Amino acid sequence: MKRLNWGMIGGGEGSQIGPAHRMGAQADGNFVLAAGALDHDASKGKDYAQRLGIAGDRAYGNWKEMLEGEKGREDRVDLVTVATPNATHFEITKAFLENGFNVLCEKPMTMTVEEGEEIVAIAKSTGNVCAVNYCYSAYPMVREMRNMVTRGDIGKVRVIVANFSHGHHGDAGDADNPRVRWRYDPTMAGVSGQFADCGIHALHLASFVAGSDVKTVSADFASTIASRVLEDDAMVNFRLEAGAVGRLWTSSVAIGRQHGFEIQVFGETGGLKWWAEQPNQVYYTPLGGRTQIMEKGEAELSEEASRLSRVAIAHPEGFPMAVANIYVDLAAAIQGQPHGAFPTAIDGLRSMSAVHQCVASAKGGGTWVDARPASLR
Ligand code: NAI
Repeated sequence: MKRLNWGMIGGGEGSQIGPAHRMGAQADGNFVLAAGALDHDASKGKDYAQRLGIAGDRAYGNWKEMLEGEKGREDRVDLVTVATPNATHFEITKAFLENGFNVLCEKPMTMTVEEGEEIVAIAKSTGNVCAVNYCYSAYPMVREMRNMVTRGDIGKVRVIVANFSHGHHGDAGDADNPRVRWRYDPTMAGVSGQFADCGIHALHLASFVAGSDVKTVSADFASTIASRVLEDDAMVNFRLEAGAVGRLWTSSVAIGRQHGFEIQVFGETGGLKWWAEQPNQVYYTPLGGRTQIMEKGEAELSEEASRLSRVAIAHPEGFPMAVANIYVDLAAAIQGQPHGAFPTAIDGLRSMSAVHQCVASAKGGGTWVDARPASLR
């Protein structure tokens, strides 16, 4: 495989997700950071881009300049990552896809289901790769869990419990801090707060590990801090197409919980547990047997878990290397090579539909609703 040119929009200096993309994309030598419009402040973005090694003529002031500048180049970027705030994802992703670029978009891919349908349609008609960064699905031990479920190690999946609950917005005295407030303001965040921010990672992972799409949902949303319009805590019950029962709790007011993402899968003949804060281990309990701790890097793991791990057993890799695993498969897909699974625009669309349907369910007192977008029913 050759080294590909890569461009970034958003992810500027001091951003939360920008460094994980830069470490991830460049970890395996698949991508070179060749262009960027990194910041909403043009001069800060250009300055930072050049400090990261981007040539002056490809350090752009905004994404429109980047699109114009890149589309005429012979060495134009092979992949564009969109790591800007949520409300801008649709417009930027659509524009780059329509101009023949491959795109990795941050979650949530869009704000509405209609926009999601449009992105899926454009990706299909242009044949470009359009991925969404559900990066938890790319941890080696998550792939191991998925492999075990597919292989039938725990039998048919009965129940999945997924939590993504932290306490970092639990201080009512900090609720007006602009970095926190926008997340619960529908004019900036859309129809959902915590569920659209963190809950969709958990819902995607439940579906990914079980190998079955989400069919129906029933939601209870709460704004536990009175000034918040959107929910900061949600309980979502769901059913997968294959019949498994799902329980999902997501919260930003769970003081004492840090990152707070964990998933348990209970089948007819065993159970599995994975926790994002200890991502090297999967706990496996066979029916009637003892709990076993499986480690990333063990010789007996599946090929899929082994290929996505770089350093020896017991050495942490963690979040940026999970993002790197998304880029490994994107590099192969862009070059028409065999590749593993990565989350696509269809996953982005399914999530957006689930968000809107959960909002509708919560408004209706928790009634069960179809979570699927109309095009995928
Ligand atoms: P942030 O607020 O820390 O950083 C946003 C960056 O984008 C800043 O550098 C800002 O200057 C830049 N920016 C804003 N508007 C821009 C524009 N129009 N053009 C170019 N640059 C622009 O935000 P954060 O937390 O990094 O989130 C960014 C996105 O990543 C969000 O959609 C968020 O949901 C997602 N995210 C995903 C995670 C994951 O696990 N996959 C984890 C954290 C965030």
